[in-house]
Amino acid sequence: MSSYNQNPDREALEALWMPYTSNRYFKDNPILVTGGEGAYLTTSEGKTVFDGLSGLWCSGMGHCRSEITEAVSKGIGQLDYSPAFQVGNPLAFEVANRVKAITPDGLDYVFLTNSGSESVDTALKMARAYWRQKGQATKTRFIGRSRGYHGVNFGGISVGGIGANRKLYGQGIEADHLPHTCLAENAYSKGMPEKGANLADHLEELVALHDASNIAAVIVEPFSGSAGVIIPPVGYLKRLSDICKKHNILMIFDEVITGFGRTGHAFGADAFGVTPDIMVLAKGLTNGAVPMGAVVATDEIYQTFMAAGGPEHAVEFPHGYTYSGHPVACAAALAALDIFENDNIAAKAAELAPYFETQLHNLKGLNHIEDIRNFGLAGALQIAGRDGDPAIRPFEIFRKCWDNGLFIRSGGNTIQIAPPFISDKQQIDTLFNILSDALTSTK
Ligand SMILES: Cc1ncc(COP(=O)(O)O)c(C=O)c1O
Repeated sequence: MSSYNQNPDREALEALWMPYTSNRYFKDNPILVTGGEGAYLTTSEGKTVFDGLSGLWCSGMGHCRSEITEAVSKGIGQLDYSPAFQVGNPLAFEVANRVKAITPDGLDYVFLTNSGSESVDTALKMARAYWRQKGQATKTRFIGRSRGYHGVNFGGISVGGIGANRKLYGQGIEADHLPHTCLAENAYSKGMPEKGANLADHLEELVALHDASNIAAVIVEPFSGSAGVIIPPVGYLKRLSDICKKHNILMIFDEVITGFGRTGHAFGADAFGVTPDIMVLAKGLTNGAVPMGAVVATDEIYQTFMAAGGPEHAVEFPHGYTYSGHPVACAAALAALDIFENDNIAAKAAELAPYFETQLHNLKGLNHIEDIRNFGLAGALQIAGRDGDPAIRPFEIFRKCWDNGLFIRSGGNTIQIAPPFISDKQQIDTLFNILSDALTSTK
């Protein structure tokens, strides 16, 4: 029996060590989500809350889509698990073909994982191994970006650039970081900021320092989500890509947030007009319904592994997860991809984006706001700290919004907003009314 409708007491909450959560505060002030439908979540107290972050940026097409829940129920009844190594299941091949078809031309081979973090570390291993297979084994270094987020595994936190996610964990893998692109002079830009393309040139300095013969790949999010929606300046990503190409360095796009419609295009690569060598995906692939991620690589990368693979029975890429291509996750992904294509989800996001942008920027001038940033259906407010604590006000605003029927996320000194693609203008209005009340009532 599920315990969805129970309100557990304090003791019943103790055993779960919650992820990215202030456990002590939460257990004294719990928020329990027990249902989801469309753009709304429901709580154990029977409250309805507008999901202004699409889950954790993953459920943009709305919760409990019958197409997905039915596909999952049917799928698990037919095949609950199939071994992932040396044996395949047809759904995994179908997912790969569908992902290949919608990702930019040239990204042709799809490796399946179970999360964004696994996808990131898979991509990093793939990049290093690629160079080794090509006889360039010294190309091992990675370059990430300050304030970048690439999940929580050791590779991901090494290339990631959020100090709080790294400081407790000691040595990671060797990585340098490009400067972030959040410039004070670009504050309150709508969409892509004008200034800062030249920040990409910092890559030349890192190449001069280490030599390209020692660098495997650069990894960036097309726009940074978890750091508070930091949008690339006009021309920046193209410049970064040109420098990578010039020096024979692979470019990895972490599209865990920007993939599957958030930018108003299918992928950030489409929105910003730059195609990487490797694309990292997760979240929207199944609309969040079942964990799943993917890494999409070029034909050149895949064929390099095949050519260097040794005898035919040998494993060319000794990497994979027990649950790679899990049939139930695949069933969810195929149903989600159907909706994504049939309902023109990216176009829906693009249509709502200008209204979202206007309403978001109308908050300018309210208490504590230092900057407003947005792209597609993603937005963030940068909030001034209080008493030397940069995170306190966003946290208080998040809790107030929740109490008033809105879920948005606080992360560091920012409030992050990513409404479902199926939202309408009225829901966007309600979102900003609740948020603006929370801002004005926060000291
Ligand atoms: C850009 C990016 N990469 C990787 C991840 C990690 O994904 P997961 O939490 O599924 O491991 C996230 C999660 O938010 C993300 O935003």
